[in-house]
Amino acid sequence: MRSDLRDMSRRQRTSPPGSGVALAFGFSAVSSIALTVVYGFGGQPQLEGLLLGIALGGLAVGLVRWAQDLMPGGGYVEQRDTEMGGPAQSAAAVRSFERGEQEVQRRSFLGKALAAALGALGLAALFPIRSLGSAPGTSLEVTPWAEGIRAVTIDGEPVRPEDLEIGGVLTVFPDGHLDAADAQTLLIHLPPGVYRPVASGREGWAPEDFVAFSKVCTHAGCPVGLYQPANRRLFCPCHQSIFDVLDAAAPIAGPATRPLPQLPLEIDADGFIAAGGDYSEPIGPGYWSRPRA
Ligand code: FES
Repeated sequence: MRSDLRDMSRRQRTSPPGSGVALAFGFSAVSSIALTVVYGFGGQPQLEGLLLGIALGGLAVGLVRWAQDLMPGGGYVEQRDTEMGGPAQSAAAVRSFERGEQEVQRRSFLGKALAAALGALGLAALFPIRSLGSAPGTSLEVTPWAEGIRAVTIDGEPVRPEDLEIGGVLTVFPDGHLDAADAQTLLIHLPPGVYRPVASGREGWAPEDFVAFSKVCTHAGCPVGLYQPANRRLFCPCHQSIFDVLDAAAPIAGPATRPLPQLPLEIDADGFIAAGGDYSEPIGPGYWSRPRA
């Protein structure tokens, strides 16, 4: 009975079965190609969203229609004939076989349409990779600081040792790079003789009792802006990390887990404070805790 109803339903259809599926996959493929073109010409978010919706929707509709119209419904029972079939039954069998052949050909076409829709959507999905930009390489591990680069104020003025009294702190930048957020540095004038190089090789990094540390907090990147000269501690206002300047700015409280990178200093031939090289390690939080090779 169900089989009869299904056959009747198929006969009543005006369009061949599978045409709706092909149409849906076709819409999907065309929308994906249009999405690629729109993106390639600069993009338009609303239009891209609409095209993506049509591309995905077309796939969904096509698959659902495929399941409804072309897949067997199951639950069929066919009575077995008690007599051998005559010529009429043989002819019906041939017609049935030919219908089956057409069915196979149609499914092959629909398979190709599905592949085209998926391929076009995959192509459209590949293009946004371009938006990721070029790979940063090692650019995030270095700053504009280098040996001989003078430390200057936010006004671009170079700094002499006598410009900063003992206990003073000054935010400085590498000369010519006032906009380099990764190079902002705290220049601190320590009392004579208190500097302790905590690692070998840092003995000469504090000429005339000046030390310098990255101002970028190693917890989440906030600017470490508060200095307490009485106990030589730096404070980050964001989450209250505290760094001990006399212990190479190691964290002694708060969520930061590694020291502020130290900048080696030197006094150049003209008497200005300059860098002796780049920071001791990459600045900032997280990933950058890995020391440079
Ligand atoms: S960013 Fe400095 S403590 Fe969180």
